[in-house]
Amino acid sequence: MPVELLSSALVHTVDSIELPPLGEGVFGRAERRDEYPIVVTRSPEETVERLLRLVGDANVALITDETVERLYGSLVVGALEKAGTAVEVAAVPAGERHKTLGQACDLLDWLTGTQIGRRDVVVNLGGGVVIDMGGWVAASYMRGVPYVNLPTTLIGQVDAGIGGKVAVNHLVAKNLIGGFAQPRAVISDISFLRTTGIRQLRAGLAESIKKAIIASPAYWALIEASADAVLAGDSEALAALVHGAGAIKAELIERDPYEDDSRRTLGFGHAIAHPLETVTSYSELLHGEAVAFGMAVELQLAAARHLLPPARHERILDLLRRVGLPTTSAELPAAVDGPRLIAATERIRLIRGGGYRFVLPIDLGETVIADDVTPSELREALRRCGVELR
Ligand SMILES: NC(=O)c1ccc[n+]([C@@H]2O[C@H](COP(=O)([O-])OP(=O)(O)OC[C@H]3O[C@@H](n4cnc5c(N)ncnc54)[C@H](O)[C@@H]3O)[C@@H](O)[C@H]2O)c1
Ligand SMILES: [Zn+2]
Repeated sequence: MPVELLSSALVHTVDSIELPPLGEGVFGRAERRDEYPIVVTRSPEETVERLLRLVGDANVALITDETVERLYGSLVVGALEKAGTAVEVAAVPAGERHKTLGQACDLLDWLTGTQIGRRDVVVNLGGGVVIDMGGWVAASYMRGVPYVNLPTTLIGQVDAGIGGKVAVNHLVAKNLIGGFAQPRAVISDISFLRTTGIRQLRAGLAESIKKAIIASPAYWALIEASADAVLAGDSEALAALVHGAGAIKAELIERDPYEDDSRRTLGFGHAIAHPLETVTSYSELLHGEAVAFGMAVELQLAAARHLLPPARHERILDLLRRVGLPTTSAELPAAVDGPRLIAATERIRLIRGGGYRFVLPIDLGETVIADDVTPSELREALRRCGVELR
């Protein structure tokens, strides 16, 4: 067909690609840079207004859990629909036990029956479970549909919503099945936190305190000064806490978005927290409670190596205790089977390949990563945190 008869939109020319000589190295390359706003809002109206600006005329698939749907579903969906946005809703059963591949597959099945296409938007409205699982579902469907996080728990707002780590659990290990997919935006509405209860606020504070220990004496000072107000649900204190966490996590993620650096510190507390959640069947402990205990164990490891002076050790434990987080096994809301915990920790070590890797604090904002912790050091630290080992 003569070229002039073709619409210019159909003509696609590329610079001719030369063939390299056979035997010459060929490399695949791909680069991607994501940038997204992380904002704090103070009412569902303000949240939906922000969301609408992001969504434009796209359709929305809203993933939530049954508890959050009951509390906020009609508020959010109603406001979106009022603005003319088509919304379809899936509410999964609430709780960590349901962050499974089976549940994620059900969500994928559900998406196939919706109007959602690659330019539409998945909105995750819920705690860390909905955020992690909904993010993975959005990242997998059609090789990736944009998603926006509206975290409704403090842990979701200070941690899970940000950073693009998406996953579901497996009986063998937590977050075993997952990937990286950054959200289009994170809108943390602190007004949602009014209904979470104090136990959830404490759990969120655990991930906040973690960030302060690994990266920011300034954030530590903010938490020390405002922890009581946070637990009392004070809006200003919550907004400052969530805003600070967003800034710290965004900075740490930018330095190492895909966890290429094995010497990452964001995992502080998690080398023990994750196996602890696995051996308590993802049911009795909140993630933040497991993290607090995991931090106590790593603090103990650091103290035993004389990296962490006793006064600093005590100061950190004091804050954890003051906000009501567990630092010994007796304070955990679930009985801990010591040998099973060791076995699950060992399994994670094998999955990762290599030695145990622990984050050992020296001072606020200063840590060392130790990959040479011996099994007997670990056992001793666990014992000192009250875990019985036969
Ligand atoms: N991806 C990450 O970087 C990252 C970081 C931290 C935690 N996480 C994950 O987050 C999960 C823990 O998050 P979570 O503690 O929010 O768990 P969750 O999502 O199970 O929420 C806890 C409970 O609170 C309820 N809830 C949620 N919002 C509520 C509200 N506003 N009012 C009343 N009840 C509400 C939920 O229905 C649930 O029963 C874990 O799976 C953890 O692995 C992920
Ligand atoms: Zn965590």
